Amino acid sequence: MPLTPTPHNSAVAGDIAKTVLMPGDPLRAKYIADTYLDDVRCVNEVRNMLAFTGTYQGNPVTVMGHGMGMPSIGIYSYELFNFYDVDTIIRVGSAGGYADDLQLRDVVAAQGACTNSRYAHQFNLPGDFAPIASFDLLERAVAAARAQGVNIRVGNVLSSDTFYEETTDAALAWKKMGVLAVEMEAAALYMNAARAGKKALCLLTISDKPLTGEGLPADERQTSFNQMMEVALALTTP
Ligand code: ADE
Repeated sequence: MPLTPTPHNSAVAGDIAKTVLMPGDPLRAKYIADTYLDDVRCVNEVRNMLAFTGTYQGNPVTVMGHGMGMPSIGIYSYELFNFYDVDTIIRVGSAGGYADDLQLRDVVAAQGACTNSRYAHQFNLPGDFAPIASFDLLERAVAAARAQGVNIRVGNVLSSDTFYEETTDAALAWKKMGVLAVEMEAAALYMNAARAGKKALCLLTISDKPLTGEGLPADERQTSFNQMMEVALALTTP
């Protein structure tokens, strides 16, 4: 049964739409709400993890920041799925590209999320869990990207607990296994969705390449982010 508000979210049940778009940065959430949604109202300000509910093409949508890393998205997505009765969460984020043929600005849909975190241990599984996206959302994202002329790559990513690393050994090992890119949240989101019987997808734009040192300037991050956002928004309509 919904237990709202929560220590992390002052919204009450009904303030949050069934579909939630989640960027890491709460100010990105405000940007998305201001740019793409109608009839917007702010429904959470606790810890400045801003959440806004509005409509996109007449359909209710919430957009909320999730912060950095798996503990953070773990809390917010858990509460949204289990206390706010949210059905679908789409993370819209950035990632560091590992694959040689991935370029800055490319859009990636995380079909699966490997991880170096122990997040799955809470489920007491007698083996390793493979966190995966909702196939329904993934299929629709690929179709929307193709319709919009956006080149989308689908595959495995790494959800890492560490942004800064002593060496490139780990990145090279993941790359050898065909892992396309590194980010810090998808695995926890997919595990929470699996446990709650809900849907999740993580869409990413490549903002840097940790193995080559390339990186997008801040203004260009915005343009490539908008392309990915339009794919994500297409998933909020029936
Ligand atoms: N998000 C964007 N770039 C990243 C990187 N290099 N490592 C982890 N998360 C990221």
